[in-house]
Amino acid sequence: MPAETTEIISYQQPDTADDYRRWDDSASWLLGYAFLPLALGLDLDLADGTTSRLLDLGCGPGEVTRWLAGRCTARITAVDSSAAMIDLARAEAPHPRIDYRHSDDGLLPFLADGSMDAAMACFLFTCVDEESTIRELIAEVARVVRPGGRFTILVPNPDHAFGAEFEGFRRGDAGAAYEAGELMPVHVRRVDDSWTTILNRYWTRETYRTALAEGGFAGPVRELAPVLADAVGVADAELFGDRAWAQERTAAPFLLITAVR
Ligand SMILES: C[S@@+](CC[C@H](N)C(=O)[O-])C[C@H]1O[C@@H](n2cnc3c(N)ncnc32)[C@H](O)[C@@H]1O
Repeated sequence: MPAETTEIISYQQPDTADDYRRWDDSASWLLGYAFLPLALGLDLDLADGTTSRLLDLGCGPGEVTRWLAGRCTARITAVDSSAAMIDLARAEAPHPRIDYRHSDDGLLPFLADGSMDAAMACFLFTCVDEESTIRELIAEVARVVRPGGRFTILVPNPDHAFGAEFEGFRRGDAGAAYEAGELMPVHVRRVDDSWTTILNRYWTRETYRTALAEGGFAGPVRELAPVLADAVGVADAELFGDRAWAQERTAAPFLLITAVR
């Protein structure tokens, strides 16, 4: 396991990629990933039996990708800039409808224009250092998503980046103020109850909304900011008993921003 760090971690490192899987991500499942089918409209996919094509950009170890593959009939192209993450995903989260691809920069030359019905990017952009790169990645997603297709980004809620204590993590330090693009500490609990501190970029709603609009997602933008009560009937019932979920009753730890191409 890597030592405690307050540096920008690199998911290119196999031990960091491996450690990521030990983070306690129950809040992400309860109030983030659980809402992806709804945000992406994949329940419709299940109901009418059609097979759509979905892009997962920044798929990491593929756990979420594989979970989603089990919730819909989509064929999924899952891409990450870390070869270590793609190796893990292929080994630990294989699925007959998922094609894991490594791309050094997140660009997608192997996908044709308009070839995807929908796309998602979960916890990708806080790992991206430059706003210009966020814009470049979003413009690339816009290129491959067909007109009318949705793109959902799941991000930490920028409104709660100043030390709010959520289950398993705390973003930023209490009382601190962060500007768009600034590095902020994120304290993360692992499943063995040890903690690590990493550095992430703080980006605002405006960062995302501007990049989406200018990148080619000109359609309406919808935002979900789930709190605990919203997860009833959406998330796996077992997750509720797992933790105290105090802050999560009134404050949404994550945002799902969905834009239409
Ligand atoms: C915090 S992890 C999230 C992984 C996964 N989406 C999840 O929710 O568990 C962020 C991932 O984004 C990847 N990443 C960072 N920059 C990228 C880029 N420019 N293109 C593609 N992937 C990138 C990292 O390698 C890492 O696997």
